[in-house]
Amino acid sequence: MAKLPLQTDNLVLMRKVLVLNGPNLGRLGSREPEIYGSLDFATLSAQVIEVAGEMGLQADIRQTDSESELIGWLHEAVDQKLDVVINPAAFTHYSYGLRDAAALVTKTGQKLVEVHISNPHAREIFRHTSVISGVATGVIAGFGIKSYLLALGAIV
Ligand code: DQA
Repeated sequence: MAKLPLQTDNLVLMRKVLVLNGPNLGRLGSREPEIYGSLDFATLSAQVIEVAGEMGLQADIRQTDSESELIGWLHEAVDQKLDVVINPAAFTHYSYGLRDAAALVTKTGQKLVEVHISNPHAREIFRHTSVISGVATGVIAGFGIKSYLLALGAIV
């Protein structure tokens, strides 16, 4: 299937990508800025949407503190055959429910890129384990907000 934007005479239909964010990422800006930087979630979202647009992608960026809601969004990606960029935040380290939902995405042939703002491997030991990576298409970590932009580049 063609992955380029679909063009008609004066209408460009961009391929939609879900950019999903887990718990506490809505607190970016004020949350441990020495680790996550000073950019707030609204600014991060605006930059992701802009860069995605330049790549011909329509980024639908969302954040939730709820595991159940995040799993529901992965089911939506499966049903609508959408690629996913996901920062599972703390769920990365222990949520088998989220892992199973992520596996549904990649098993149906869609891409799922796990991203982290920080480099979890350079932090506390509990952050060295990701239960998501094993079912992800790939992982990008440690580049700040650029992790998201690199992930978009990987699925374009
Ligand atoms: C994070 C890393 C996780 O360990 C942490 O729980 C987060 C953010 C990151 O983007 O660096 O909430 O996913």
